[in-house]
Amino acid sequence: MSSQYKILFVCLGNICRSPMAEALLRHHCNESNISNIRIDSAGVGGWHAGEPPDSRMVATARSHGVDVRGSARQLLVDDLDTFDLILCSDAGIQRQVKSLGDGKATVGLMLDYHPELAGGDVPDPYYGGPDGFMDVFKMLDVSCAELSDNLSTRG
Ligand code: 4NP
Repeated sequence: MSSQYKILFVCLGNICRSPMAEALLRHHCNESNISNIRIDSAGVGGWHAGEPPDSRMVATARSHGVDVRGSARQLLVDDLDTFDLILCSDAGIQRQVKSLGDGKATVGLMLDYHPELAGGDVPDPYYGGPDGFMDVFKMLDVSCAELSDNLSTRG
């Protein structure tokens, strides 16, 4: 990859789905020795800004050998120009991101790379039980692995 490619994952609170996607894509890129890439996450809402990722999500990921770190931040209008690709948890978040205006970023969905779930939403696990976190982990793992494969062929 000649210049740094920048990918931002966006969900509602930036404590469950988007930090999970960020950690999974980083994990797969590390395994494939993909460098020169920046991966970040943000939430359209700022209620959890500065907080660590949800402990249920951290535990689910850790049980699969994936570390989820960082602190939540709210999406900035400038992010639409800073990042090349913004991947949203669901269609509602995608609409909110697009409503901020046009930038250089392509605004897609986190599951766009999933062979069976492309075009679908990542369900919000926040108010549900542990199964919801595992379901989210599995679908994001498949999509992020596929995205990592795509990135490895960018040259
Ligand atoms: P996330 O999950 O958007 O995947 O980070 C949520 C986190 C917090 C809330 C809702 C969803 N909340 O209502 O505080």
